[in-house]
Amino acid sequence: MIIYCYEDPEMLAEAAARMFVEAAMDAILDHDSFNVALSGGSTPPVLHRHLADSEYFTPEIIAKSRFFFGDERSVPPDHEESNVKLARDTLFRPCDIPRELVHVPNGGSDNLELEALRYEITIKRHVPLSPGTGIPSLDLVILGMGPDGHTASLFPGTAALHVPPYRVFVSNEVPQLNTHRLTMTYSAINAASHILIMVTGEKKAPVMREIFDPQRRENVTNPYPIEGVRGNGSNVIWLADHAAISQFSQEQLDYFSIDIPVKQEEVSE
Ligand code: 6PG
Repeated sequence: MIIYCYEDPEMLAEAAARMFVEAAMDAILDHDSFNVALSGGSTPPVLHRHLADSEYFTPEIIAKSRFFFGDERSVPPDHEESNVKLARDTLFRPCDIPRELVHVPNGGSDNLELEALRYEITIKRHVPLSPGTGIPSLDLVILGMGPDGHTASLFPGTAALHVPPYRVFVSNEVPQLNTHRLTMTYSAINAASHILIMVTGEKKAPVMREIFDPQRRENVTNPYPIEGVRGNGSNVIWLADHAAISQFSQEQLDYFSIDIPVKQEEVSE
């Protein structure tokens, strides 16, 4: 597991923006296109702002990019809670990204199962399929992690964790939130060339400490949903702020080569 740590969400997002643009440049150099799935939550808007401010996220890169969503809430795309609205307000509009390059799931559909299938077909139509599996291989998937270890809308104990491997995007009942969500599946996430997991805030610290325990066995009995994000073994990059790893032991800090500068006030005691 590769983890990079940053003092705060701002510094994390600045690094994530650099990695985003690098992944875009690599993809465009390799196959003249860049397909990325965005995430919801509180961290992505900071990333989006850094992208909008970046001189490297150029109109030329945008013109060869297509934007998808890792998940969406069961609300219309103009609803305050919509991940689509979040991306429109913080990335698409500020960066003048043309609508035809953005593919959105409609969380407001009255048939989410059908909408998930429609969106799955849309993804498959625009994103190159992995030979053999037929699963679309995005160039980059941006993810976050909730305090319960969920990612995208793959929540603990929900059906979307166990859908058939050929499914790419599904509707998922989330009883703990008393709602339904639309979410990308592990098959689609793990088929991506690059996966960036951004984890910020103290609330994630307990789960981060468990997940990054060097003694944690591969076949842990009740893994957190985020632990199903494995990519190809070497293309999953974790970005965490200091608050999210605040419960790491010294052994964990050493094991993952994390050097947390001691705060000045602590030194003076
Ligand atoms: C969503 C996201 C969700 C998010 C996590 C972490 O729709 O909310 O897909 O999985 O990534 O909840 O959110 P933060 O960015 O707030 O940590």
